[in-house]
Amino acid sequence: MATTAAEQATQDERPAAPFRTDTFRIARPQIVGPDIPEAPFPIALNGLVQKGFGRGGKDLGCPTANLPDESIAPISSVAKTGVYYGYAQVLSPPDGHSKLTEEESKVLPMVMSLGWNPFYKNERLTAEIHVMHDFKSDFYGYEMKALVLGYIRPELDYTSREALIDDIEMDKRVAISSLDRLGYQKYAKDSYFSL
Ligand SMILES: Cc1cc2nc3c(=O)[nH]c(=O)nc-3n(C[C@H](O)[C@H](O)[C@H](O)COP(=O)(O)O)c2cc1C
Repeated sequence: MATTAAEQATQDERPAAPFRTDTFRIARPQIVGPDIPEAPFPIALNGLVQKGFGRGGKDLGCPTANLPDESIAPISSVAKTGVYYGYAQVLSPPDGHSKLTEEESKVLPMVMSLGWNPFYKNERLTAEIHVMHDFKSDFYGYEMKALVLGYIRPELDYTSREALIDDIEMDKRVAISSLDRLGYQKYAKDSYFSL
């Protein structure tokens, strides 16, 4: 089995990530993974959304919700670093004061980056979820639930921000077409979520 993200995190050195090549970009498939999720998927994650460095929204046009360290274990202990797809839901706080619209509190498609963000040379393993919806306000401190259903690609290093943005946009398209299969659609209605 490939080294899990948690095993890598115990090593002294931050793992090196290969640079993205043109061959990789051209050869990327539109749909990834089998027609129904296979072990270790689905992987359930949940936690209170934390502030990251904020570069996802500002630099990359792709805001991400960071999960706390203790929420990452269900995936980092069984899977390698990389980009994953699935569904996520942001839950309204129990006090009734929610900034979320009805649409924003639904189960929505997501892409997730698990790793060290080599382009930004992070020192810590993080799991960052981009929910595919244009949220009108931030939701730091809100609970997020996610079902990770498949793997898209390894985490890569980049020589330009544009190339990283280009791959993230492709990740979103791959996630949408990969989720658009019967074996995946049903997870949007899974009882794990608050429906
Ligand atoms: C779908 C997706 C794929 C990503 N792929 C990579 C990658 O291959 N390499 C990398 O260095 N960072 C990757 N990132 C992580 C971004 O670098 C990260 O989201 C960014 O640093 C923003 O984090 P921040 O909001 O904590 O600043 C990816 C993020 C997403 C959402």
